[in-house]
Amino acid sequence: MKIQIINGPNLNLLGVREPEIYGSLSFEDYLQELVILYPGIEISYFQSNTEGEIINKLHETGFSYAGIVLNAGAYTHTSLAILDAIKSISTPVIEVHLSNIHARESFRHRSMLAGACKGVIAGFGMDSYRLAIEALKKVCNII
Ligand code: DQA
Repeated sequence: MKIQIINGPNLNLLGVREPEIYGSLSFEDYLQELVILYPGIEISYFQSNTEGEIINKLHETGFSYAGIVLNAGAYTHTSLAILDAIKSISTPVIEVHLSNIHARESFRHRSMLAGACKGVIAGFGMDSYRLAIEALKKVCNII
């Protein structure tokens, strides 16, 4: 079973970027932990700072993968194009955020994407990604 993790803009700087909000671990280091935790799942990882590349990856994996875990970063709050991409594919998407977007600035409270996703997990740091995989496994019953 294949799961695609997609990280959007500025998430390549996890570990360096605003560590008081996002922690001091790089995503590559966390990914190693996830891979060990789920030996039965093929976890692919893609990060891009470009909206179109995120859309292309959703199209590429969105008809064959079992699930997609998407942290679209700031595009979460702005991107009608990513919303349409999620609506266009058949693979369930779980929206994730490291921080609790509802406890931050008001412009982060609204997600353009959430309505097209299976669900949203926010506020648990890197553990948000593991919880999203658990959601794909148990709630969606697809793995
Ligand atoms: C984020 C929250 C967004 O508001 C922000 O723009 C990010 C990261 C998170 O994971 O907490 O880049 O998606």
